[in-house]
Amino acid sequence: MWYWWTGLAVGVFFLVVVVYDLVQRKHAILRNFPIIGHFRYLLEMVGPELRQYIVTSNDEERPFSRDQRRWVYASAKKQNSYFGFGSDNEMEQTGNYLILKHAAFPLPSPKAGEPGYDPGYRIPCAKILGGHRQRTKAFRPASVVNISAMSFGSLSGPAVEAMNRGCKLAGCLHNSGEGGIAPYHLHGGELIWQIGTGYFGCRDANGTFNLEKLKDCVSKYPIRAIEIKLSQGAKAGVGGIVPASKVSKEVSQIRGVPVGKDCVSPSTHSAFDGPDSMLDFVERLAQETGLPVGIKSAVGQISFWSELADLMSSSDRAVDFISIDGGEGGSGAAPLAFSDHVALPFKLGFARVYRQFAELGLHENVVFIGAAKLGFPESAMFAFALGCDMIAIAREPMMAIGCIQAQRCHTGHCPTGVATQNRWLMHGLDPTDKAARLANYIVNLRKKILMLSRTCGALHPGLISGQHLEILNGTFGSSTLSELFGYRDDFGMPGITDRQSIESIMLAHQENGLAPIESTSL
Ligand SMILES: Cc1cc2nc3c(=O)[nH]c(=O)nc-3n(C[C@H](O)[C@H](O)[C@H](O)COP(=O)(O)O)c2cc1C
Repeated sequence: MWYWWTGLAVGVFFLVVVVYDLVQRKHAILRNFPIIGHFRYLLEMVGPELRQYIVTSNDEERPFSRDQRRWVYASAKKQNSYFGFGSDNEMEQTGNYLILKHAAFPLPSPKAGEPGYDPGYRIPCAKILGGHRQRTKAFRPASVVNISAMSFGSLSGPAVEAMNRGCKLAGCLHNSGEGGIAPYHLHGGELIWQIGTGYFGCRDANGTFNLEKLKDCVSKYPIRAIEIKLSQGAKAGVGGIVPASKVSKEVSQIRGVPVGKDCVSPSTHSAFDGPDSMLDFVERLAQETGLPVGIKSAVGQISFWSELADLMSSSDRAVDFISIDGGEGGSGAAPLAFSDHVALPFKLGFARVYRQFAELGLHENVVFIGAAKLGFPESAMFAFALGCDMIAIAREPMMAIGCIQAQRCHTGHCPTGVATQNRWLMHGLDPTDKAARLANYIVNLRKKILMLSRTCGALHPGLISGQHLEILNGTFGSSTLSELFGYRDDFGMPGITDRQSIESIMLAHQENGLAPIESTSL
């Protein structure tokens, strides 16, 4: 008897759907094809996942290909991250194909049980952050790989906690993102505090900058440096956006904004209005806190950078570090036209800015940080050869803690609980377990960076120059990176004193095993 009732219920359900489809006026496809039309929406919804798992090839998908994702996941889980049978890339027929030129007699990489073996594969920065301007809290960052800005709000609390705990385990710095400092940032990892145009954590009720609040935060939290955000690659020219669906009560309290409404930061700063007043602001923050202070920006019009370099060479004011984000960088939410068409991609943008400083001899005084898809050994090497002293990574660590590239960050419905504020979705993310995965991934990335450096005959990735890398053009031609980017021989490397110091640190490290190379003060 029950099947009669079930059949009747199913029949009534379909009848209601047919009537609804025919009567509604919003979707032509449903009016024309009642019931069947719904499959189109269903397929559209699960299309990205289907393509990801079934249709696309190893190198096809963007932002990150299957090979890249597989490498991150395997590294995070300490699984075998090797690939078998040789490369499946078309080296000779692909334009802009990167080749690292190995030395005939590479430097050995110590293995477990051998003298000098370091299971953490620590690589300290070749420059002292804040060293040139002698900030009182200048220090040598312990890791050249660090976590890039991602706010609590765009990421869930457990995700931020996993990042912070992971940074402590891997001995690297955690950038807070522009959304202020949340309790999730306070699990042992040291912070770079990012200040955006919304001044979250250091603002008055009307949204303007408040120095006393900034000093209060600096005194309470483990902040090692301050980063002033001018822009990020994925949405240069528009301020930060946290969509209404992600502005929970907790996010609203930390940022001081209303619950359930889009949290949009202004597109420009109110505390300064050009390179000159920006340098005054930088010096003021550095003097009041003793911390190194830098800027983060994507690269568009070059006049800002040439003016900044001129001002730094003609006065005793300077930024301690410059983080350059590429137009291909990520975001929790951004307008598509901005993600796809505003700001130069990393390599072009970075090299342009770097040259402005190098031509005035200022490149040795500034710590350069690169971001945008650099969380892979070969991309990181490209960045170091261009002159980066450190790299900052965001989406790759997201993948290490479980992100599956579902690209739903802007909806609040991230299925893995990484980029959402939905309690049910984030309850599955265990911060302690994911912290270990993040640390595993960072350590494996550093291991491969060190192996590649040694393969090229250098003890440290900062000692790799544009001569070590060659770019194939797809028609049997090739150029060194220096030729392609117009670099002089001394570009892309730290100054001679820094080179000597980092070489002796790495040698001591190799000879003595676990040498003390944690975040040391000046
Ligand atoms: C979810 C998410 C949130 C982000 N939030 C910020 C932010 O608050 N401030 C910022 O400067 N950049 C932010 N970014 C950009 C990253 O810090 C980084 O510059 C960019 O994603 C490039 O690095 P990647 O290619 O390793 O992801 C965010 C990126 C993502 C994916």
